[in-house]
Amino acid sequence: MLENWIVTILVSVGVGSVLFMVALFVLLRNNAHANIFWNELVLEKITNFVMDQSKEQRILNSVSYNAIKGDAESVLDCIDKYCSQKEWAMNVGDEKGLILDKIVKEADPTVALELGTYCGYSAVRIARLLKPSAHLFSIEFNAEFVPIAKEIIEIAGLEDKVTILEGHAQDIIPQLKTKYNVDTLDFVFLDHWKDRYAPDTILLEQYGLLRKGSILLADNIGFPGAPDFLKHVRNNEHYECTHYPSHLEYMKAPDAMEKAVYLG
Ligand SMILES: C[S@@+](CC[C@H](N)C(=O)[O-])C[C@H]1O[C@@H](n2cnc3c(N)ncnc32)[C@H](O)[C@@H]1O
Repeated sequence: MLENWIVTILVSVGVGSVLFMVALFVLLRNNAHANIFWNELVLEKITNFVMDQSKEQRILNSVSYNAIKGDAESVLDCIDKYCSQKEWAMNVGDEKGLILDKIVKEADPTVALELGTYCGYSAVRIARLLKPSAHLFSIEFNAEFVPIAKEIIEIAGLEDKVTILEGHAQDIIPQLKTKYNVDTLDFVFLDHWKDRYAPDTILLEQYGLLRKGSILLADNIGFPGAPDFLKHVRNNEHYECTHYPSHLEYMKAPDAMEKAVYLG
């Protein structure tokens, strides 16, 4: 009698565990929010604890060991491979990276600005396409990411083309003219926290950093979305907008980029 109870409990726990694992697997496969939550807040924290290093340090290690020094393409390939096969990370990624490449080539900027450096993936992507006289400023407020991005940009051989400015975009934008000698920006890549896209675009306007023809490109318009930014640029006679549907980096979930050309 007692044995029957024990067998029943063990079978129930076993079946329950299998059902839970199947449900988790289906949820992670079909829901980008759940997938990112699982990767960033569960797996990443456990790996960080076990390895006593951050995911961003592991990305840098992978680049240091596997990329060819001075070869930007090999740095990008290495990060894309690591983040698609081992650990998801919030780089713009290879698919949306092609849209970024296209718009950078179209803008052919002399002075470019990026909001949100992270590990320097998109900075490498942009800087490798810049003409000899051109320069990219990239703003990042996370002090742990800045040295990692600098090292990755150096491995790509692009350190002379990129200046990382550490701090909040909203504090640095007002100093671009006075402290960093910027006149106007030819190209701006918005890829920091999404609720800052609209206010920081307004700051760029207020501080006279946009000229007729300046191109803004905003990432993550589909996921997680930047509704205030879209509202600002789409209902505005000063901008001409183009939408580029795509997918979230290293995932199948839909995402998009928005190009907004400032008309003056
Ligand atoms: C999506 S990641 C950038 C990814 C990077 N552009 C790439 O594709 O390789 C966003 C980054 O913006 C930074 N960030 C968010 N809000 C910021 C702000 N207001 N000022 C400066 N950096 C910010 C975060 O710390 C994070 O590293």
